[in-house]
Amino acid sequence: MRKVITYGTFDLFHYGHVHLLRRAKELGDFLIVALSTDEFNEKEKGKHTYFTYEQRKLILEAIKYVDLVIPEETWEQKSNDVKKYGVSCFVIGDDWRGKFDFLKEDGCDVVYLERTPEVSSSAIKTDYALGERKA
Ligand code: CTP
Repeated sequence: MRKVITYGTFDLFHYGHVHLLRRAKELGDFLIVALSTDEFNEKEKGKHTYFTYEQRKLILEAIKYVDLVIPEETWEQKSNDVKKYGVSCFVIGDDWRGKFDFLKEDGCDVVYLERTPEVSSSAIKTDYALGERKA
């Protein structure tokens, strides 16, 4: 079985996330999402999420492309996760292009997928606060 892993916050789950997860799953048979914990978001990513970790996890577990959700608690855990779960392919959006090439040393493919334009959790927050909606 070919296992794929991806990392992210996935707050205010949106169609850009769906596109990313669909293409990630197509690269293998089993998709693991390492979901940033609230503490990791606050302390390391400078993100204050609307939904809690447990709420974001509940949503991700209901997505048909997702087979397993694990916590992302440190920047350094990726190599360990690859070994622990026998991961063949690491996938992430191309806003991170080149940042995780070191995982190839663990025998893992590294794939950067094109982001879906014009949608993000942060844009949803600011647009909604301004009373704007997606056309
Ligand atoms: N992603 C994507 N297309 C988008 C938004 C996100 O492909 N329009 C991907 C990211 O590249 C990442 C994953 O979805 O691989 C999770 O991204 P995340 O940072 O949680 O979502 P964003 O909407 O980008 O959140 P923020 O605005 O807080 O950065």
